[in-house]
Amino acid sequence: MNILITGASRGIGREMVEQFLKQDSKNRVIALSMNADKLMDLHREYGNRLIAAPISVSEETAKAEIKKLFESGELKGEGLDLLINNAGTYPKEPDDFERVSIDLLQQGFEVNTYAAFRTTQACLPYLKKSKNPVVASITSLMGSISDNTSGGSYAYRMSKAALNMFNKSFSVDHPEITAIVFHPGWVQTEMGGSSAPTTVAESASGMLKVLKGLKKSDSGKFFDYEGDPIAW
Ligand SMILES: NC(=O)c1ccc[n+]([C@@H]2O[C@H](COP(=O)([O-])OP(=O)(O)OC[C@H]3O[C@@H](n4cnc5c(N)ncnc54)[C@H](OP(=O)(O)O)[C@@H]3O)[C@@H](O)[C@H]2O)c1
Repeated sequence: MNILITGASRGIGREMVEQFLKQDSKNRVIALSMNADKLMDLHREYGNRLIAAPISVSEETAKAEIKKLFESGELKGEGLDLLINNAGTYPKEPDDFERVSIDLLQQGFEVNTYAAFRTTQACLPYLKKSKNPVVASITSLMGSISDNTSGGSYAYRMSKAALNMFNKSFSVDHPEITAIVFHPGWVQTEMGGSSAPTTVAESASGMLKVLKGLKKSDSGKFFDYEGDPIAW
């Protein structure tokens, strides 16, 4: 299976890269990262089953770079079975309503929404070559409108809610592709912090298990990392 994961150098993304490589010797992982050099240890361990590409999915140039990846070298003629849009950011500046700037909102959308949109657009021709293509985008419970009782976090919440809507429209427009959004849990990463209750290993292995059991009828849905449905 060919699997492409964005934001792959640390946190949940890196853990998923490692688990897919360990899980099945037929898995090949294409890891996109602004810090692809941080994946060298995995490259040494797994050889050419890991393609670590220095691509920043928050830049428009990523589209041409992804095309080049699939149209030359070892991926030439290959399809893509699973795309995981994992790259994400939680803007660090104050984002209460009075102080949040449009620039900060823009930063959230650039990574959390547009990067996933752009990567999926770039990967579409290769997803179409797969017998059972899947797109899983890592959103957040904070992108759920019905779960929002505490307000604030405008940049993060708005950009993840927009990612959820992207996924829904894409699932309607492309019934041949199973497209879902995942809340990975509150996870111990640079973003989640050390007091988060869930480890990266638990979050990633939960999502891998859900992906394994995914049905076509799940397309357009919102799940947590244990496979429980989440309300919009
Ligand atoms: N941790 C949590 O509790 C939690 C909860 C809900 C949702 N999530 C979501 O889970 C996903 C993974 O988060 P994480 O916790 O693993 O966070 P993390 O450790 O901060 O990693 C985020 C990844 O996103 C990529 N990224 C960050 N800024 C970027 C930019 N400007 N352009 C392109 N890529 C950028 C980085 O990729 P490279 O440097 O490798 O390119 C990085 O590896 C995110 O979508 C996040 O919103 C996390």
